[in-house]
Amino acid sequence: MHLFKYHGRELFAEDIAVTELTEKYGTPLYIYSYNTLLRHFQAYTDAFKDYPHIICFALKANPNIAILRLFAKNGGGADIVSGGELYKALKAGIPPKKIVYAGVGKTKEEIRFALRSKILMFNVESEDELREINRIAGVMRLKAPIALRINPDIDPETHPYIATGLKRHKFGIPIEDGLEYYRVASRLKNIKVIGIHKHIGSQITKVSPFVDALRRILFLMDKLSTEGLNIQYLDIGGGLGISYRDEEPPVPEDLARNLIPLLKGRRLALIVEPGRSIVGNAGILVTKTLYLKKGEEKEFVIVDAGMNDLIRPSLYGAYHQLLPVVRKKRNTTLCDVVGPVCESSDFLAKERELKRVKQGEYLAVMGAGAYGFSMSSNYNSRPRAAEVMVRGREHFLIRERETYRDLIRSERIQGFLK
Ligand code: LLP
Repeated sequence: MHLFKYHGRELFAEDIAVTELTEKYGTPLYIYSYNTLLRHFQAYTDAFKDYPHIICFALKANPNIAILRLFAKNGGGADIVSGGELYKALKAGIPPKKIVYAGVGKTKEEIRFALRSKILMFNVESEDELREINRIAGVMRLKAPIALRINPDIDPETHPYIATGLKRHKFGIPIEDGLEYYRVASRLKNIKVIGIHKHIGSQITKVSPFVDALRRILFLMDKLSTEGLNIQYLDIGGGLGISYRDEEPPVPEDLARNLIPLLKGRRLALIVEPGRSIVGNAGILVTKTLYLKKGEEKEFVIVDAGMNDLIRPSLYGAYHQLLPVVRKKRNTTLCDVVGPVCESSDFLAKERELKRVKQGEYLAVMGAGAYGFSMSSNYNSRPRAAEVMVRGREHFLIRERETYRDLIRSERIQGFLK
């Protein structure tokens, strides 16, 4: 459910016409709906309300600090994968004791920063990393709270680039080695084992992979407890899909209904790390048609948003629905909607039947709230888009459009080149 709907011919973001926003802020423009974000976040807290839990929003999906603040104000925590994400989570007011830190390549500086910040736990992905955290914690005279990220070897049946829980992936520790790793961890002086973590992939549209993965994890936890290793935090990762086209993914309630019964009788705190399912459909990217070009087989609609603004179609062949910001009675035509970037892979849609658009008209790229702005870049020296949050009829700029000056802000022409 989201709040981007037509009122008559006009597409609205909550109670404001999208054209009003494009006039004020220009394009390409990311627009987020406050009430959709809130509703999606609360769907998680409601679903898991009968079990002790923390909803740790996965920053990588959308790390705008205004959005993070919204979740923080509603009791949310953070799933982070870098020092930069830790910095942003803290700046947004997320309590350190609600922050979990995953990722296969944490640097010394990042580990120190996280220890100093007193985060809830590190989700450790290898033995080398475990020993490094132990060593650094020793120097700092601390005990580092950790979970081991276990790779349960489950196929989430999603796009191969965003599956993470199979043996061939770089993530986590193979489940059959789990017991041995936990033994090692429990012997390290500056490590405090408190949790277990798994995350099997993203854009998962069924409940069964979550259930199968959790069963495997619980089996390992039972083995651990016979050795006196008691886990307090069970982190089940994120990964719930959204509807980009005609998918009918489960909702948080379905997840909770299937998973919580498996946890009966266990004294645990559950951690969930959703990203896409909270922000994905709460954001759109609005772009303006610059030119039309007739090819032999199809028409090219050239718009002002490129792969640097939204890379998902180019990178994964991902489908994003395109809607006219003002609906017109027009014939449909087969087109490629392409950006201005100098790459053939710069497209928002390929061979799509669309109602004809004219120069100057706007299109909304739906489902752009997750992995949209967060994966954007300055490729082709294109300043990154502005981001706006809408609440009812109100709208707030939550990130300024970059300027040309921003493009060179950190670059230097040193003396020897003068
Ligand atoms: N937790 C961990 C450890 C993760 O690696 C991820 C996502 C999440 C949570 C959040 O997953 P979500 O609920 O958003 O599915 N760029 C890709 C998606 C990459 C996902 C990476 N990990 C895309 O645009 O589809």
